[in-house]
Amino acid sequence: SKYEYLITSKPEPNVLLIQLNRPKALNALCSPLFKELNQAMKDADGDGSIGAMVLTGSEKAFAAGADIKEMKDKQFADVYKNRFLEDWAEMARISKPIIAAVSGYALGGGCELALMCDIILASPTAKFGQPEINLGVIPGGGGSQRLTRIIGKSRAMEMVLTGRTITAEEADKWGMISRVVGQGEGQVVKDAVAMAKEIADKSQIAVHAGKEVVNEAYETTMAEGLKYERRIFHGLFATNDQKEGMAAFAEKRKANFTHT
Ligand code: HXC
Repeated sequence: SKYEYLITSKPEPNVLLIQLNRPKALNALCSPLFKELNQAMKDADGDGSIGAMVLTGSEKAFAAGADIKEMKDKQFADVYKNRFLEDWAEMARISKPIIAAVSGYALGGGCELALMCDIILASPTAKFGQPEINLGVIPGGGGSQRLTRIIGKSRAMEMVLTGRTITAEEADKWGMISRVVGQGEGQVVKDAVAMAKEIADKSQIAVHAGKEVVNEAYETTMAEGLKYERRIFHGLFATNDQKEGMAAFAEKRKANFTHT
């Protein structure tokens, strides 16, 4: 394999599956692992044959957080000068959809990594938490901001200040994830791959636009966001996929998108 800490495969011709593969450390997110992850996602983003990605860990752990052993002796000067964790933001520039398939622990940076994905599916065994407070720090990979926008202040405060781990069921009720899948080993990955294939089979231009406009909702006012959505919507009338999609509907046949 190209990677030391990842296993990549194509369970469908247009879907890339990325599995974090540092099992002895419960997929603790050391810097070289994150570098590989950014590289794999950037490569897939530029690969025309891939329409969507699935990110997963193991049955026991999606990821148990940033690597505590790597961080423990760092000084302020190191983390500041070396812009520690700034490369995590690179994932936000990926334009293709990323589905997180979470089993077991998604803690600290692992929870934040799931939150950076576009859709989260969870196995009934999934456990989400921001336990940084127990280490004398706070979330550093976006948890305080993303959680607050998604689940609200009171629940985000509870997670960040107590460090309590929540169950898949709670995460579902709180709107942190799309849904909890059925029981069974590997089920969450199967369901995530099926969803990724469903998305990858659509017009890739429209999918790209859909991800872009939903993300814009977190960055702008309602009025600006609505205008932005309308402009992107207008722009799609310049694509062959819009002509094909609407013609196929009128002719009662399946659309054959060419991603042009
Ligand atoms: C480094 C880790 C690790 C981590 C687990 N390991 N989590 N190493 N960093 N985050 C290692 C353990 O040291 C151990 O190594 C091996 O993985 C197995 O873990 P155990 O603890 O023996 O397993 P278990 O008893 O089943 O407990 C599982 C666990 C626990 C509850 C998930 O490992 C745990 O609490 N991990 C830390 C969770 C955490 O605090 N995460 C937040 C990190 S801070 P050895 O060598 O002993 O076998 C963070 C900051 C984010 O994420 C900032 C932005 C990115």
